[in-house]
Amino acid sequence: MDEKKVMLSGIKPSGDLTLGSYLGAIRNWSARAEEFDCYYFMADLHAITVRQKPADLRRRTIEQLAQYIACGLDPEKNTLFIQSHVPAHAELGWVLNCYAMFGELSRMTQFKDKSAKNADNINGGLFTYPALMAADILLYQPDYVPVGEDQKQHVELTRDIANRFNHIYGDTFKIPEPYIPKVGARIMSLANPEAKMSKSEDDDPGRVTLMDPPEVIMRQFKRAVTDCDACVRYDPENKKGVSNLMTIYAAATGKTFPEIEREFDGQLYGAFKTAVGEAVVELLRPIQEETKRLLADKAYLESVCKNGAEKAGYIANKTLRKVYKRVGFVAR
Ligand code: TYM
Repeated sequence: MDEKKVMLSGIKPSGDLTLGSYLGAIRNWSARAEEFDCYYFMADLHAITVRQKPADLRRRTIEQLAQYIACGLDPEKNTLFIQSHVPAHAELGWVLNCYAMFGELSRMTQFKDKSAKNADNINGGLFTYPALMAADILLYQPDYVPVGEDQKQHVELTRDIANRFNHIYGDTFKIPEPYIPKVGARIMSLANPEAKMSKSEDDDPGRVTLMDPPEVIMRQFKRAVTDCDACVRYDPENKKGVSNLMTIYAAATGKTFPEIEREFDGQLYGAFKTAVGEAVVELLRPIQEETKRLLADKAYLESVCKNGAEKAGYIANKTLRKVYKRVGFVAR
C-alpha cells in the first residue's frame, strides 16, 4: 500500500481564534484525515515573539486545542499537539537559523509589519521566526502545508531553506507545497477591509472570534464597513468591504458570488449584512457548543496533548537525528 501523504499546519495562540483563522486555515484541515497523515499544533513558541500574559497564553493554548477538535479534527485520526511539548522544534529551529539568510529574513512582510507595530520589542525571535516555522514544517516531511495567504511567504522561505540544506548535505527534507483555500484565504477586518482580520483585539476592532456570542457577531456585521454605492457586487479592487462580506457569506453557505449577487439584487446593505451575520452565527453555533463541552473535560484534553506530543515527537526526532548526523554532531 502507498504511504499516505502528510499534511501539517499550526496556529499561534496569541489571541482568540477568529473567523479568519477558521476560514483561512482550520476549515481546510478537517475532512482530510482519511486521505492524509495530519499534524496540527498550537504554536506557543511562536506566540512569545510578541509579549503574552502567561495565564492568557496557557488558557488560549488549551482553548485552541478544544477548538481544533470542535472544528472537526478528530484526535484519533489527526496528531494534535502543543509545539513546546516537542523539543525537536526548538532544536531544529536553531540549526535552520544557521541556514536562513539575514537578507531573506529581512524581506519577510510579517517581520516588517510586526516590527512596525511592536517598535519597543523588536526581538531576535521576531526576526528569526521563519526559521523556526521552517523547522516546524520540515520535521514532519509534509507534502502540503495548508495556510492562509499571509503565510505563503513563510512556506516559500521554508522551501528555499530546505533546498539549500539538501543541496549541501544531500536529500534530507521533502520540499512541501503551500495549500491555500480558493475562498477565504484572506478574510479582512470588518472595521477596515484594507487589513486582514487579526486575532489581537488591540490590532483589530473588526474581528469576529469563534467564541463570540450571537449578539456580538450580529453587531460586528451590522457595523461592517462597506461603501456608498448600495449594490452587492463582487469587486475586490473597488468594493473591498462588500467583497469581504461576500467571501464570508460564500464560505459559510457554499453559495457562489453570482448566486449571492442575484439573491441581494435591489436590496440594501442592511439586509445583506444581517444575512451574513446570521449565516456566521449558524456556522459557529455547533463549534461553540462542542468547544464548551470539551473545555469542561480537562483530563481528556490533557490526554490528547500527551498522546499527540508522543506521536509527533517520534516522527520529529527521526528527522532531527538525520539532520544532526548530516551537519556533523556526535551521536548522543
Ligand atoms: P497565524 O497564527 O497568524 O494564523 C494561523 C492560520 O490562519 C490563517 N489566517 C487567516 N486566513 C485568512 N484570513 C485571515 N484573516 C487570517 N488570519 C490568519 C494564517 O494564514 C494561518 O494559516 N506562523 C504561523 C503559525 C505557524 C505555522 C507553522 C503554520 C507556526 N509554524 C508551520 C504552518 C506551518 C502564524 O503565525 O499563523
